[in-house]
Amino acid sequence: MKLAIYPGSFDPVTFGHLEIISRASKLFDKLIVLVSVNPNKPSSFSIEERKELLHKVVEAEKLNNVEIDSNDGLLIDYFTKRNADVIVKGLRAISDFEYEFQMAQANRRLCYKAETIFLTAKSENTYLSSSMVKQIAMFGGDISDFVPECVLNQITERLRIKQ
Ligand code: PNS
Repeated sequence: MKLAIYPGSFDPVTFGHLEIISRASKLFDKLIVLVSVNPNKPSSFSIEERKELLHKVVEAEKLNNVEIDSNDGLLIDYFTKRNADVIVKGLRAISDFEYEFQMAQANRRLCYKAETIFLTAKSENTYLSSSMVKQIAMFGGDISDFVPECVLNQITERLRIKQ
């Protein structure tokens, strides 16, 4: 059985993440979507909120081989603990590449069997990011083109700046 882990901040989940989750779930027997801590990014949603949003999206899409989990330590320790085969990451543009390349190299240095596989985003999603979604929603903009419908209200309500 091939087990893949898709780690990320998911703060919050967007159509870009859903695209990678959906495609990766078809490539592997089981996919763990792992809400992880990125110390370089301030978060807006708690880990529990991010997991809840991901659960709703995965249920709505009926992706039965996808598990949602979280980890507040090193990805590679979780990877080893779960005896996983592959780390999956999404690449939107060439600007993502250097950072992702460094992380893939570092993870492989920490554990030689940690292969990272990159899925390139479809063109509609190449510009999409959680931080852009957050900024639009905070100022009352419409984010329905960017996040799945089943979590749209929850994300919008949570982010709107009360004026
Ligand atoms: O969605 P992001 O913020 O680009 O995801 C980055 C993330 C969370 C996957 C990365 O920061 C991470 O792996 N964090 C866990 C801590 C860790 O293992 N850091 C070393 C990475 S080489």
